[in-house]
Amino acid sequence: MKYFLDSAKLDEIQYAYKTFGIDGVTTNPRHIMLSGKPFMIAITDIANWIKEEGLEGIDRFPVSVEINPHLDDADEMIEMAKKVAALSPNFAIKIPCTEAGVTAARKLEQMGIRTNVTLVFSPAQAIFAAKNGSLFVSPFIGWKEANGEDCKEYIKNIVEIYKNYGFYGKTEIICAAIRTPKQIVDCAVAGADIVTTGLAVYQDAMKHAYTHQGLETFINAWDNTITE
Ligand code: E4P
Repeated sequence: MKYFLDSAKLDEIQYAYKTFGIDGVTTNPRHIMLSGKPFMIAITDIANWIKEEGLEGIDRFPVSVEINPHLDDADEMIEMAKKVAALSPNFAIKIPCTEAGVTAARKLEQMGIRTNVTLVFSPAQAIFAAKNGSLFVSPFIGWKEANGEDCKEYIKNIVEIYKNYGFYGKTEIICAAIRTPKQIVDCAVAGADIVTTGLAVYQDAMKHAYTHQGLETFINAWDNTITE
């Protein structure tokens, strides 16, 4: 199970890499906006940091970057994707699961530009991403569960379909919009390859009341022991 950070803030990415050993990053237009930087600067800063860290290579530390969501023509999507992909060998281009998006993603994969089909809300949509040979598919969890839909079955179905047809492990399943540690576990049990979420969820996932209580017990024992 790989952990990706869902953020475009460089300081958060650096912290999560150092602390939690995250395996990659996902961004979207909302995260770019929250970084407070212009789009090109935000993604160039991430590309430069990847180089400085010696993490170059999409297999080593993939970063998903979403193209302009206004675009609804496959050729225009491809043009922008080419410009973004040229900035770093680590960038996978995030494209919405629409007719134009899937058309563009298929062509980009044929050109050797890796893609992440995003805004996926059904197993039928996830099949399109796999048939395209996209590197990633991003089924959204939090948005569906906020709507009262159960996501365990949803992810299990995608995993089973991918296994049935030889897509599993080729198009990696990134469970996105994860809001809680329980959702991380549900996705892992269902067989997802990756979860992506913000720093706060990983920090919550690290905590357990018994860990804290146990530490207190051991500190107390240490303080009442001759340790020299
Ligand atoms: C995933 O790739 C998306 O960037 C993300 O999870 C979208 O959802 P959110 O912004 O509501 O968390």
